[in-house]
Amino acid sequence: MKGIILAGGTATRLFPLTATTSKQLLPIYDRQMIFYPLNVLVKAGIRDILIIISPEHSGHFLNLLGSIFDKNNIRLEFKVQKTPRGLADAFIVGEDFIDNDNVTMILGDNIFEDDFSEDIKNFKSGGKVFAVKVPDPERSGVVVFNEQMKAVKIVEKPQKWLSDYIIPGLYIYDKRVIEVAKQLEPSNRGEIEITDLHNWYLERGELEVGLVKGKWLDAGTFDSLLEAGQYVKEKKISEKFDPIINQAIMEFNEELKALAKKKL
Ligand code: TTP
Repeated sequence: MKGIILAGGTATRLFPLTATTSKQLLPIYDRQMIFYPLNVLVKAGIRDILIIISPEHSGHFLNLLGSIFDKNNIRLEFKVQKTPRGLADAFIVGEDFIDNDNVTMILGDNIFEDDFSEDIKNFKSGGKVFAVKVPDPERSGVVVFNEQMKAVKIVEKPQKWLSDYIIPGLYIYDKRVIEVAKQLEPSNRGEIEITDLHNWYLERGELEVGLVKGKWLDAGTFDSLLEAGQYVKEKKISEKFDPIINQAIMEFNEELKALAKKKL
């Protein structure tokens, strides 16, 4: 299983904060946002991770993550997405990296309380995504369940209410996802839509839709960014991180402190 974090985008809803750096490098309490999706992948045992970034922030990501996992057997690769073509583009940008493996893709601004380790470790083929209830489903990809809680339909930003369940940013797919993504036509908003990928697998009876347990946040607005910070502080989420990540952050902090002392 390979892992991809999609951490590009334009982050217009967070202007002007994102005029100076990437959304995914803004702080959620005591660490940068990118560590939260990274933790989901590392906790599930994934060691090969591709981080997709926008060209103007590549240096910022390297400053933080370029050498932080040198000793921990975690291999990070970086690739630039030249323009934000849509979430499904992650599988096209990541084609060579995915190669012949399965892949878990997570959005760089998604904060999950849930632990997906078992789903990721037990994944064999097809697709697996998750659903979560939200008060404003019309802003996302909405999933409709039948009485047996089996997903029957997924619709991107429906104009009429269909269901309160949406598909947040964690997707597990087999390698066919690359070819399917390449065949997608851009939607009205000019993006290749991840919902179209879900539907390709759903129509073939190969998409499993689980439920997210606990809290989920997309930290893409001022309010959700603040809520995420408060939430991770109150629930002490940092303490529950995979020890590899906490150790790496601690060592990096020590290095930074030593460098700062030298400069004095
Ligand atoms: P969005 O929040 O949908 O888009 P955005 O981050 O550009 O923000 P805004 O809507 O405020 O302009 O993106 C969800 C995540 O996916 C986020 O972490 C950025 C990332 N992303 C990419 O890396 N490339 C893309 O082409 C898109 C659409 C999103």
